[in-house]
Amino acid sequence: MRIVKVNASKKYNIYIDRGLLSEAGEYIREAAGGNRAVVVTDSNVDKVHSEQLMNSLRNSGYDAVKYVIPAGEESKNLQVLAEILSFMAANHFSRKDVAVALGGGVTGDITGFAAAVYMRGIRYVQIPTTVLAAVDSSVGGKTAVDLPEGKNLAGAFCQPSAVICDTAVFDTLAERDYNNGFAEVIKYGMIADEDIFDILERSIDEIIERCVKIKADIVNEDEFESGRRQILNFGHSIGHAYEKLSGFSMLHGEAVACGMVKICRIAAAKGICADSCADRLTEALMKFGLPVKADYSAEDVAEMMKMDKKASGDSINLVLPLKPGRVKIEKTPLESLKDLLETGE
Ligand code: GLY
Repeated sequence: MRIVKVNASKKYNIYIDRGLLSEAGEYIREAAGGNRAVVVTDSNVDKVHSEQLMNSLRNSGYDAVKYVIPAGEESKNLQVLAEILSFMAANHFSRKDVAVALGGGVTGDITGFAAAVYMRGIRYVQIPTTVLAAVDSSVGGKTAVDLPEGKNLAGAFCQPSAVICDTAVFDTLAERDYNNGFAEVIKYGMIADEDIFDILERSIDEIIERCVKIKADIVNEDEFESGRRQILNFGHSIGHAYEKLSGFSMLHGEAVACGMVKICRIAAAKGICADSCADRLTEALMKFGLPVKADYSAEDVAEMMKMDKKASGDSINLVLPLKPGRVKIEKTPLESLKDLLETGE
């Protein structure tokens, strides 16, 4: 088994191995304790993975209950959050009990937020069931729900007590969903460790370990995103705009893939990085069937980017590549975005 340690405001382990789901109860007991456990999962994951987890929790002595939310981003809202909180209250959860997120980013984010606010905070454990959640959202303690005005607008920084990554679970993902996670894997190659490009064919356990080590380092240094953590948003400001413009028909990783290529092309046009930087990125993304170009006008993308929650006042921090493995953060006036986006065409 591979173990990566996070040393943020709270210390915890990320466990990575095939078959961990059937032993998860023991890891949860050790990391979080408590008598009751609520497993929050979505309607898709529930059908395939929750029974194994519930059995494991019961075998480890937990009084385990389950709350299933409808699959999809639409569930990440205040109403569903309130339902999870009420479910915990109706089941007499105390501050010593534990919430377990079994699923992708939506489940992880909403369960983490429910744990952050239930009785002013209870422990929770992340069990990511997608590659995307395993390498990004399950680690680092960002929790949130969406508001009608935008994604992730209500949330809290709240670190989990453990992350349990059973890589056998990914066998059940459709190819498109599996590949979706590789946009974030390749992102780590661009922002921090060029060698990631050379290990893309290796075992998923090794890939996840490498990525979460990078993320853990960044979170240890800048848990509350006042500086370096922003580099994790590489490709995301443009990517989020694409995602919204596509009406969410593009998956997150697909939109981020196009966003990363676009920002590379912009940086190359400005002489900040070489053309070969975008070529290396494009080649890696295409190996996983990820798109590398989204056909939206500079004007539409710029308008969408202005509504990004990361835009503050009249500027937005863009993460620009210097070369594979190195990026810089540049404060960019919102009014220059349209011209900038035209530059990279
Ligand atoms: N997903 C970006 C972060 O955790 O900071």
